Amino acid sequence: VAGPAEDAARTTAQWQATDAAHWLHPFTDPKALAREGSRVIVRAEHVWLHDAEGRRLLDAMSGLWCVNAGYGRDAIVAAASRQLATLPYASAFFHTTHPPGIALAERLAALAPPGLDRVFFTSSGSEATDAALRLVRRYWEIEGCPERRIAIARWQGFHGSTYAGASLGGLEAVHAQGGLPIPDVEHIGAPSTWAHRQQARAALIEPLDAAAFGREAASWLDLRIRALGPARVAAFFAEPVQAAGGVIVPPETYWPEVARICRQHGVLLVADEVVCGFGRLGRWFGSQRFGVVPDLMTFAKGVTSGYVPLGGVLVGRRVGDALVARGGELQHGHTMSGHPVACAAALANLDLLEREGLVERAAGDRGVRFAAGLDALTAHPLVGAVEHCGLLGAVQLARDPATGREFHRRATVAELAQRHALDLGLVVRAVGSRVVLAPPLVIADVELDDLFERLRAALDLAQVEATQRGWM
Ligand SMILES: Cc1ncc(COP(=O)(O)O)c(C=O)c1O
Repeated sequence: VAGPAEDAARTTAQWQATDAAHWLHPFTDPKALAREGSRVIVRAEHVWLHDAEGRRLLDAMSGLWCVNAGYGRDAIVAAASRQLATLPYASAFFHTTHPPGIALAERLAALAPPGLDRVFFTSSGSEATDAALRLVRRYWEIEGCPERRIAIARWQGFHGSTYAGASLGGLEAVHAQGGLPIPDVEHIGAPSTWAHRQQARAALIEPLDAAAFGREAASWLDLRIRALGPARVAAFFAEPVQAAGGVIVPPETYWPEVARICRQHGVLLVADEVVCGFGRLGRWFGSQRFGVVPDLMTFAKGVTSGYVPLGGVLVGRRVGDALVARGGELQHGHTMSGHPVACAAALANLDLLEREGLVERAAGDRGVRFAAGLDALTAHPLVGAVEHCGLLGAVQLARDPATGREFHRRATVAELAQRHALDLGLVVRAVGSRVVLAPPLVIADVELDDLFERLRAALDLAQVEATQRGWM
């Protein structure tokens, strides 16, 4: 096993060979990885990644939608190191607690919508989804309604990779492995305006306008609750904007109507804020952007800007009061729940987001420039539509932008664009026939312009290659 000194001497090819031999990577085909090699990232600062070959890449994905405050933030590093030196670990079980965990719980309660004033900590978004489902079902047991067990979520949603997270997620490729979904999980359609227009076009009917489509998509929840019987439905789980599903921004009418339907049937509303939280949509939480107050909110990623693993569930009074007053001992928790170093890093990260006005700027000048950059791409011959909200965005590729006709090979053209972007020093992500973007909230104006220049050039190259391959 190589020590740090030998590590410095390894070539990229050696790193790649050892990586392929020993590391089973998440959401990766190991055979393709062994064949093509992985990109070895060795350091990063601000919005820039540096690979082992000395190339600099503009990270328009904030890692995996998480490095909101950007790389190389000394304040987070210092807070984490101080905490490592003072108290590197303390259990949160059995009546033990610690200052960074208490301070972070208090801080999150102050930032969250009114009433969400208790926090259950985990170390990831997937564990947060699991915990939320446990808390939801526990709540209904305490209320004397154990038959309220069904969780409804959406196709193309993503809620993590634990059994509960992957089951609630609506990705068919994920469900195809390992006997998913678990029982008592149901899915309804995503509020995708693009998909609605495609379907209307195929059926030769007029699509609904955005407001009417938002209400229509929300009505799918009402119909499903009624079909299942409200007395069997525990909760609705949804991301304010569906990120990993391709950045599906719902019409403004969708969320208020969803919240009304949940209230009407007594169904708990769980907002997955793992991507949308901590400024991504220009508010501390995505639910605030859409004007709803959920019963529970899951979070992770941006809470520490990805510097240290941390996640959790913010719990509103309806569930929180029942758990505290009548729940007895909660039979759930992790050794690393509320890890002191993660909590200290989170506090320093929240300070940065607040002090630098990064949340407001994602809705203000920076968000406006990002939206303008995306909107300008609609003139590109490969682009059928764009969607954006705060600093989260997507470019929908289409074979014929005028009619919205999609490519036969839906995924591959976006993958071409992703590959060309990488060759041009830009990290974006292909999701189906979309290219998605989530740059760090600290990205400067010139870097945003640089991002869109590189993206446009990558789309040009993808168009040339798609034409050569006869895909156009
Ligand atoms: C919306 C959403 N929820 C949950 C998760 C799972 O989080 P983690 O990967 O930290 O388990 C993700 C991860 O991408 C996500 O995008």
